[in-house]
Formats: sequence, structure tokens, C-alpha cells
Amino acid sequence: MGFRAHILGAGAGGGLPQWNCGCENCTLARAGRIPSQTQSSLAVTANGQDWAILNASPDIRHQLNDCAALHPTGLREVPLRSVLVTNGDIDHVAGLLTLREMQSFTLFATAGIHEVLAQNPIFAALNPQVVTRQTVALGVPFRLAPGLWADLFPVPGKVPLYLEGDTVETDLVGEQTVGVHLSGGGGSAFYIPGCAMLNDDLRARLDGAPLVFFDGTLWQDDEMVRAGLGEKTGKRMGHISMSGPDGSIAAFAGLNVGRKVYVHMNNTNPVLNPASPERAEAEAAGWIIGQDGMEITP
Ligand code: MLT
Ligand code: MN
Ligand code: ZN
Repeated sequence: MGFRAHILGAGAGGGLPQWNCGCENCTLARAGRIPSQTQSSLAVTANGQDWAILNASPDIRHQLNDCAALHPTGLREVPLRSVLVTNGDIDHVAGLLTLREMQSFTLFATAGIHEVLAQNPIFAALNPQVVTRQTVALGVPFRLAPGLWADLFPVPGKVPLYLEGDTVETDLVGEQTVGVHLSGGGGSAFYIPGCAMLNDDLRARLDGAPLVFFDGTLWQDDEMVRAGLGEKTGKRMGHISMSGPDGSIAAFAGLNVGRKVYVHMNNTNPVLNPASPERAEAEAAGWIIGQDGMEITP
């Protein structure tokens, strides 16, 4: 078996339902009336046997339990070969703490993201004698797992929330937020769970791609403000919205992309309700709304 991408979690930070949220979607999800979503993570293989996980979410324990392909194959043997982290956000790194227990794998990230992890001594729980931390340079392809290649590219974004100072640049382009190009086993895909805007570089990179997993955090920029849930817009959080003239639906409309899949969707996003008009609009524009457990093959 060749290339497979398995969505472990299609939700953004907090998941759906989020523990402290009484918004419409969270209430519906709690009642079992719309599907729940765990937090942002994708598992990928090129051969069906050796897997890499892109971003380690706080829900990783349940995600691994729910994905038979990632279950142990022996007493202390697992098909997981590596974890790649695309930024230092809590929803993408907190799950690393669950992966302690003296299990060997390689942890890939840029120097900038490794530096963030190194500044947090709690991550020493991943014994360096067992978990190898490997620094990856932007634009240099590397072997993420047997038969599976990856290369990283910068994506407009910001530093993690917990490192924000008094002023925050939300469209920094560097090592703090990256996208991933994956290839091997007869397939290829882009994985970009956080992105502040689609610049020319990104448009050129994605044009012609067979499969793109993309930041679907919000439907509209001020959705959380309108819902009375906070002051922050999507732009302030470093996330492009789906709708509107500056949104990702419009930005991708001119690109030739085979399958476009939204991931990292915040619980306020109306597309998470299968009966919503926004869901119909996104699907009419050719988007697949990601879902926990969804598997995509070439
Ligand atoms: C984000 O994607 O903007 C972050 O995960 C937000 C957060 O850290 O809570
Ligand atoms: Mn996030
Ligand atoms: Zn909510």
C-alpha cells in the first residue's frame, strides 16, 4: 500500500466541543448532533507500515487509539517513525508530552521551532537518548519516514501565542510557521494548517498540486468577535479566513489544485455544521471539509 494521509484531528486549538465553550457548534457537538473534532494533526505513510505524524496535538492519545494503523505491532513496537512540528503552538506540540514512555522516534522541526521546545524544560520528558531531535532547513528535502519525503517552506504566520510580546507581527515569513510538501508511495500532498495569507510564493508553489490540506480556522475574520467569544480576529491570530475577497476560497479559485481539504477548523466555524449554508458554499467551491478519521489516498 502506498501513500495515505489520515486526518487524526481536523479541529483547531480547543477542538469541537471546546471544554469552556457554549457556542452553537460546541453545544450541538456536545449533544451529538454534529460531528466532534479533535485538535490539529495529520498522519501520513508512503507504504502503509511506517507512519509520520504532522503536529502532536493535546488529543494525540485518543487519536492514536482511534487509528488502527498506528496501534502497536508488538510489545513496545509502533508504526510511528517520526513527528514533524509545523509551529510551536500548544495545539501542535502539547501532544509530544504524551509520546514520552521511552519510545524512539525522530522529532523534526526547523531550528526556530526546536529552539522554542528547548526553552521549555518540560519537553526533556522526551529523553534525548531515545527521541532524536533533528533540525530541518527550509527548502532541503529530507526522509520523514521510509519512502516518505518532506520539505518545508515558510508560510506567513506569527510566533506562538505564549511567546507574543507587546506588538505582534502576524505575517512573519520565516521558521516559526512552515508548510510541508510530502511525497512518496505514488502520492504527494501539501500540509499547511496555519497560514496568515496566500502570497505569490505560496500560490506558485500550490498551483498544480494534486492534494492540499489547508488552514480552515475561521469562516470570516471577525467570527469570534461576532459570537461574543473574544476580541481577536483571524488576522490577529495569523489565520486567513475561508470567505470574502481576501479569503482562501477566493485565493484558491484561480489555482489548479486537485483536492483541497480544510483542516484546523475552529469550533466557531459554521462549516463544521453539515447543514449550514456556509458548508454548502465551501463544498460548491470544491473544498472537502476535513473530519477526524478521514483518510485520503492519491
Ligand atoms: C492558533 O492556531 O492560532 C493557535 O493554536 C492558537 C492558540 O495557541 O491557542
Ligand atoms: Mn492552532
Ligand atoms: Zn465553541
